[in-house]
Amino acid sequence: MTAQAQIKSSFPVRRMDFGFTDVPKYWFHDDPFLTHFLSNLSSLFPEGEFFFVTSMRNIRDQIDDPVLQKEISAFIGQEAMHSKEHKAFNDYATAHGIDVDYMHRRVGKLLKFGHRILNHKQQLAVTCALEHFTATIAKQLMVREDWNGRMNDPVMRKMWLWHAVEESEHKSVCYDAYQRLYKNTYGTRASFMVLAWSILAAVLVEQQLRLMAKDGQLTNVKSWARGLWGLFGYKGFLTQLTLPLLDYFRPGFHPEDHDSETLEKKYKEILALQG
Ligand SMILES: [Fe+2]
Ligand SMILES: [Fe+2]
Repeated sequence: MTAQAQIKSSFPVRRMDFGFTDVPKYWFHDDPFLTHFLSNLSSLFPEGEFFFVTSMRNIRDQIDDPVLQKEISAFIGQEAMHSKEHKAFNDYATAHGIDVDYMHRRVGKLLKFGHRILNHKQQLAVTCALEHFTATIAKQLMVREDWNGRMNDPVMRKMWLWHAVEESEHKSVCYDAYQRLYKNTYGTRASFMVLAWSILAAVLVEQQLRLMAKDGQLTNVKSWARGLWGLFGYKGFLTQLTLPLLDYFRPGFHPEDHDSETLEKKYKEILALQG
């Protein structure tokens, strides 16, 4: 066995195959707004993660560090599995009247446009920004048992927490590749962070309105109030993401500054995940 073959990535690629046939329509706390908010996020993953993988494949030949090469391979493997499982869920949701597929295709077109107009460095900067977003949400989902405990379907809870564990495990890979290749290019990293998050916020708002409208829930004041307070109120899920997200603007930022090892270990045990 060559020395390179003996090097292992610091995290595994786990094969998953969730079955969604028993998932109820409102699987998050029996609530339309919050269930649709997670479907909204899910609609972004298959094409979004394909964008991440492509942006890494674009540059991986320029990485001469065998350890980072192994991490990139494992990153690609994990993201491919996330895409597969979220696509399966999105298809299931679409078949049950929640039109995630339309949004999924539209996001795909937007990201293909991004591939056409952005160079490799800019694509990787977008990926680094969005990977910080997913890693920050992932940590919050593991910390907030009041949130993950309200996922009233065991399959959905396992899928989201498995994804959260793996986003935490691979949170540094893109950033390390970016730093290795482009070093002190703070301006590009920070400005594409603003661009990526602005587009993401606009897409999430539009899609949330679309999902609620299609489901006849636009006038469900109780669900809107509960959902908006849950996201943006005091101790709201998104409110509490603000500071860790903004930390990305710190010049010396590194994803590992946001330690999640204890949480990963805890949820790997709870979910009986290998590795
Ligand atoms: Fe992912
Ligand atoms: Fe990721």
